Amino acid sequence: MEQAVLKRKDKGVERVLIEADAVQQRVRELAAELDRIYVHETPLLIGVLTGAITFMTDLMREMDAELKVDFMAVSSYGDQVTSSGAVRILKDLNENIEGRHVLMVEDIVDSGLTLQYLLDVLQRRDPADIKVVALLRKPKAEALAVQTDLVGFDIPDEFVIGYGLDYAGRYRNLPYIGVLDPAEIEVTKSKTAILSQTPPLQDQ
Ligand code: IMP
Repeated sequence: MEQAVLKRKDKGVERVLIEADAVQQRVRELAAELDRIYVHETPLLIGVLTGAITFMTDLMREMDAELKVDFMAVSSYGDQVTSSGAVRILKDLNENIEGRHVLMVEDIVDSGLTLQYLLDVLQRRDPADIKVVALLRKPKAEALAVQTDLVGFDIPDEFVIGYGLDYAGRYRNLPYIGVLDPAEIEVTKSKTAILSQTPPLQDQ
């Protein structure tokens, strides 16, 4: 990144993939499309914590349709950059979705495993219909096969951060989508290795 514009939070970003303005413009377009879809319905927007928070809050403010929101949390990759394939629900919905128009709001579809799992779980609860809006989608074959009705950007197969997306819990507050510097992965790995060698605290 350019030295002149480097802020503390930009450290570890190899390059900007999608500028903040371009993200905002695309979110406005997606919101307009969703307004055309939900002219007569009140969709329930379901965000998948934590990565989707920024997209969700921007998207819903741009939408004109009457809507409601709810959140789910699923197990994430931890400090890993690849999907383990194992998905676990950590927080379920507050709302009953039977007969409702559900809109899944996803930050990113990588392998598509998380989304497919959630779609299967939610379908069994008999909603009127489920649509999916994903801000980012990677090119994996399985990801392309999973249901995504609207996609903000198709991106290359790189680990991205910012606009809600994290690496090891950091970088969510970047206003743009950036590519993580691979050197950061090594730094975090070695820090984790040092921490895991630290003996646990004993009870007093
Ligand atoms: P999937 O199950 O492989 O599609 O991964 C879905 C979840 O993994 C997303 O909701 C993100 O939380 C996380 N994830 C996947 N790729 C990335 C990435 O490039 N950056 C940050 N998080 C990612």
